[in-house]
Parts: sequence; structure tokens; C-alpha cells
Amino acid sequence: MMKWFLILCLGWSCVALADSASTNRNNHSVKNIVMSQCASCHSADGNSQNSLWPNIAGLKQSYILKQLKDFKGGLRVNKDVERITKSLTFKNLTALSYFFSQQKFSSLTKPKKLSESSELVNLSLGEEIYTGKRIEYGIPACASCHGERGQGGLDRKRGYIYPRLARQYKQYSIKQLQLFRESKRSNDSPAMMRNISLLMDDEDIESVMAYVATFNSNLKSEILK
Ligand code: HEC
Ligand code: HEC
Repeated sequence: MMKWFLILCLGWSCVALADSASTNRNNHSVKNIVMSQCASCHSADGNSQNSLWPNIAGLKQSYILKQLKDFKGGLRVNKDVERITKSLTFKNLTALSYFFSQQKFSSLTKPKKLSESSELVNLSLGEEIYTGKRIEYGIPACASCHGERGQGGLDRKRGYIYPRLARQYKQYSIKQLQLFRESKRSNDSPAMMRNISLLMDDEDIESVMAYVATFNSNLKSEILK
């Protein structure tokens, strides 16, 4: 009896040891990839130092994974990211997306106070666009998909992932809206963002993103539908 118990125990601890060894190995290899392939632009914790490289810390895992797959498959175009993702497996991409989704935002993308963010843009125009007061021009409320405070959301029924906009670099987001408008970014099936951005001129785009830059969203992304 005692002997069997001992054998069983040894068996279990063997399994536990093997599990933790492979988890450690996985963590180790994800960190290696982060440091060698991503950190030069996005930093080791996803809070990139330059507004042309998006902040990827704390984005939803499903959104990060979708983007990485889209880059790998050529559906979203960026030469550098495409080359890097092509050299990685789907397993690597899944592990990377989990890693970055768990990182916290740094103070680099600290929300602007309403008074500081005015620059030359019209914040009240930005607010009107964001909250749906420009619906008569066909522009739907950004809030209806991206959340009231830009926290992002999910439409489980249809499988749409609405990315967090709060705490993202304004320059990067403006560039994305321009890319959508020119159909140079077209991974937003069924053309949600391409259609919306066509209705906005540069002033609208700058104003709405300046308004978003005032959000301090620590809210969890919502299940919208
Ligand atoms: C040479 C710089 C560079 C490197 C290295 C790099 N990226 Fe990027 N990444 C970018 C740029 C620039 C964009 C935005 C491309 C665009 O304008 O559409 C981007 C976009 C992304 C996005 C989409 C963000 C969003 O909000 O839609 C994710 C996710 C991402 N990168 C993850 C990674 C991961 C993971 C690695 C490492 C495996 C990596 N990147 C390596 C520059 C880089
Ligand atoms: C019907 C839902 C919907 C509405 C309304 C909407 N969006 Fe989006 N938006 C999306 C989806 C979905 C994506 C991500 C597409 C993808 O998978 O790459 C996105 C992506 C974006 C991105 C790129 C984010 C990134 O990290 O790269 C920006 C910026 C953006 N939207 C801004 C806006 C603004 C500003 C408005 C209002 C004028 C708006 N969106 C309205 C669904 C929506």
C-alpha cells in the first residue's frame, strides 16, 4: 500500500515538474522573441517610445493576435512587421499576443488634460464625432464600437473585435484613419473603418483623435453585443 502511494506521488510530482519546466521554457522563448524581434520598436513591455510605433501594452489578446495573423498573411501591410511575423509560427504569435496583453501602460501615453490638448484642433468637434452627433453626415458614434471611454469592446455574436483607442499614440491613430480612408489598410472586414473614415476630412480625424487622447481608460473592454 505504502509502496503504491509512493509510486503514485512520484508520478504526480514528475508530471508537475515536467509541466513547470515546459512553462518556463515557453516563457523564456517568448521573452527571447520579444527582446530580439519586437523590443527595438515596441519596447520590452509594449509601451513604445515613438508615436509612429503603436503602443501594444494591454491591448486585448484576441485583437493583437488578429493583427499579427493579418500582417503574416499580408492582409495588413507593413514590410517590417510582415517580415518578422512570417518568420514566426502561429504558436509564437499566440504566446506573444498573450504576453503583450498582460503588460501595463506606462506614463508615456498619459491622457492629456482638456485644456492642454487643444493645439489647433477643435475638441468639441472631436467630441461630437465620437459621441455620434454627426450621424446626420453618416458618421456613426465611435463610442458605439470602441466604448464610451475608448476602452474597446467585443461583438461575440459576429466575432468583431473593437480595439482600445484610449492610451494609444494620437499620431499612430491618425495615420491608421488615413490608411483606412485610402484603403491602404483593409483588414477591417466588412470595411467598417474604411467606410467611416471616407466621411471624415483631416480636421475631423485630428479632432476626434485629440478628443480620444483625453481619455484615461482603465476600464475593461466591454462585451457590447
Ligand atoms: C521595425 C519596427 C517594428 C518591429 C521590430 C515590430 N513592430 Fe509591430 N508595428 C510596427 C509599426 C510601424 C506598426 C504599425 C504599422 C501600420 O502603420 O499599420 C506595428 C504594428 C503592430 C501591431 C498592431 C497594433 C494595433 O494597434 O493595431 C502589433 C500587435 C504589433 N505591431 C506587434 C509586434 C510584435 C509582437 C513584434 C515582434 C514579434 C513587432 N510588432 C515588431 C513596428 C514594428
Ligand atoms: C461599427 C463599429 C466601429 C465604429 C462605429 C468605429 N470603429 Fe474604429 N474600428 C472598428 C474595428 C472592427 C477596428 C479594427 C479592425 C481590425 O481588425 O483591424 C477599428 C479600428 C480603428 C482604429 C485603429 C486602431 C489600431 O489600434 O490600429 C482607429 C484609430 C479607429 N478604429 C478609430 C475610430 C473612430 C475615430 C471612429 C468614429 C469616427 C470609429 N473608429 C468608429 C470598428 C468600428
